[in-house]
Amino acid sequence: MDEALHDYKSANPMYGPNAFKIGVFNINCNGGLTISLAPERWKADWPDVVKATLMADHAGYDFILPVAKWHGYGGKSNNLGRSYETLTHGAALGALTKHAAMFCTIHVPLVTPAFAAKAMATIDHATNGRAGLNIVCGWNADEFDMHGVTIDPDGRYDQGLEWFKVYARAIEGGPEFDFKGKYYNLRGVYTDPVSLQRPRPMTMSAGFSPNGRDFAAQAADVLFTLVSEIDQIPAMRDNLNIYAAKYGRDIGLYTQAQIVCRPTFKEAFDYYHYFAEEMADMEAVEYHAQATAKGRDTRSNNSDRPMVNKYSRQTGKRFAGAYPSIYPLVGSPDEIAAEIVQMHTAGLAGAAIVFLNYLNEMPYFNAEVLPRLERLGLRVPMG
Ligand SMILES: Cc1cc2nc3c(=O)[nH]c(=O)nc-3n(C[C@H](O)[C@H](O)[C@H](O)COP(=O)(O)O)c2cc1C
Repeated sequence: MDEALHDYKSANPMYGPNAFKIGVFNINCNGGLTISLAPERWKADWPDVVKATLMADHAGYDFILPVAKWHGYGGKSNNLGRSYETLTHGAALGALTKHAAMFCTIHVPLVTPAFAAKAMATIDHATNGRAGLNIVCGWNADEFDMHGVTIDPDGRYDQGLEWFKVYARAIEGGPEFDFKGKYYNLRGVYTDPVSLQRPRPMTMSAGFSPNGRDFAAQAADVLFTLVSEIDQIPAMRDNLNIYAAKYGRDIGLYTQAQIVCRPTFKEAFDYYHYFAEEMADMEAVEYHAQATAKGRDTRSNNSDRPMVNKYSRQTGKRFAGAYPSIYPLVGSPDEIAAEIVQMHTAGLAGAAIVFLNYLNEMPYFNAEVLPRLERLGLRVPMG
């Protein structure tokens, strides 16, 4: 990671001592990442969004990460059909939280880089240096129709790179500049104030394809990607190292994980089976699969995108109501803590975690798994 990023002496935990960073993902959308009809699924009512975010913040989570979404997946659950916009979400919750980094997930095709630089600088000031940017280049054309914007799966990361260059130069500060590229033709770009964090808030890029890795290696401090079981991690880490080395950089690797934690494995697995297999909203799952296929770029080989996990291989079931490609962390507190240690040893620097219902599920994880991770040396108690 760029040394200069550490210059700002903030309390941003993304630069703190936890060897394995933990963030909570997708509190801002209904369903979280679970495409399930289970009646207790996440509804994302604002008071609950606030409660769950503060619960994570008080427990010492390193970051809060929202999903950027404009349309749901249909079916009876219409998963992600309700979502709070992430810049305004970051500002609002940044004012209420005290510890966690507040990431904002920005769709490159929808937000100009100069707008993003000003908005991110604003949130960085409002949070005293806890802003973070998650760049997403867009995949689901259906979401962009309402904006009158067309996305180009083959060119999305080329546009993303131009976008990032303008954004970074603006938020880093300096004289006004012009920019002429394939996607942007801009005059007099600057932003005032610039971010508190220097040269800019931490950047994450969410993607999986080789092009996505190449983009992250240039633009991001962290690649937020997909691994669904332990064996996939070393290969992904090695591959990302190759991309990062091309640019003389070293970037972190995070995944998303679904937590189902109960006193015993049987209880946890039964609950996972209930909401992810028996209660899966197959109509929405099918929509997601079709939209993903349409949104693929033709230049990348996506064949290694993880579609199974150890439970689907063991049982022959899909567990489709958990998000495709998500890493299931199912078990007792001891089992989950031990698996997180293995994930770290295999090459992951962090995870963005989701729960079927954040308010129901997070307290047990926080009370039982976080202290184990501290005893195992992966995390330090909150100061
Ligand atoms: C872990 C992860 C999280 C993502 N989060 C979002 C999101 O919040 N909103 C969105 O529109 N796309 C999101 N994406 C999609 C990516 O931005 C990207 O456009 C898409 O995955 C296609 O690129 P790829 O082939 O490199 O994966 C996410 C992707 C990954 C892997």
